[in-house]
Amino acid sequence: MEEKVAAETKEVVSLPRLGERAPAFEAVTTQGPVRLEDFKGSWLVLFSHPADFTPVCTTEFMGFAEIHPELKKRGVELLGLSVDSVSSHIAWVRNIEEKMGVEIPFPVIADLDKKVATLYGMIHPGESKTETSRCVFVIDPEGIMRAMIYYPLTTGRNMQEILRLIDALQTTDKHKVATPANWKPGEAVIVPPPNTQEMAEERLKEGYECKDWYFCKKKL
Ligand code: BEZ
Repeated sequence: MEEKVAAETKEVVSLPRLGERAPAFEAVTTQGPVRLEDFKGSWLVLFSHPADFTPVCTTEFMGFAEIHPELKKRGVELLGLSVDSVSSHIAWVRNIEEKMGVEIPFPVIADLDKKVATLYGMIHPGESKTETSRCVFVIDPEGIMRAMIYYPLTTGRNMQEILRLIDALQTTDKHKVATPANWKPGEAVIVPPPNTQEMAEERLKEGYECKDWYFCKKKL
């Protein structure tokens, strides 16, 4: 009976999925209140970290600060999150500036009530029941979830991979192509597979670099 009541009162949250609208939220940050819809028209990288004043997170914050100008060049806004308070975030950001000489230019959500963390599935209780894991959500200018990365508490993320992911997504959108493993800007891209036999024949005449009818690359 107890179990049934618990099940009935439990709020059902459907977690974000690729290709679907990212869940709307309102939150307080180190730079004032934000809503997801404020970012409409820009790409957004929303990321969570486990806790303020921890070493791996500090290296990540410095890493995100370092790639911030590159993200800006690509029209991408950056927004951090943890379940710490605004005061804690401010103290930590000031500490990073004072002790590491790195200014943190992006806002950080203080998700004390875990509303955004719950909505986005950032807490993985197998790792920590109270802290957010190292999640990255890439949301496009239309508000669609385009990529999600989850890293464990003990592993700092690779900033160059986040930039590479943005470059790949933006290249895909612009040129209607896909990108192969380890692709970097300037390298050949994958021509989407043909849908008909006729298209398969045609593409062999297009001057693409083809290994076979289904595996063709081209330079942009
Ligand atoms: C860190 O950022 O150093 C850290 C945070 C939570 C668990 C383990 C490491």
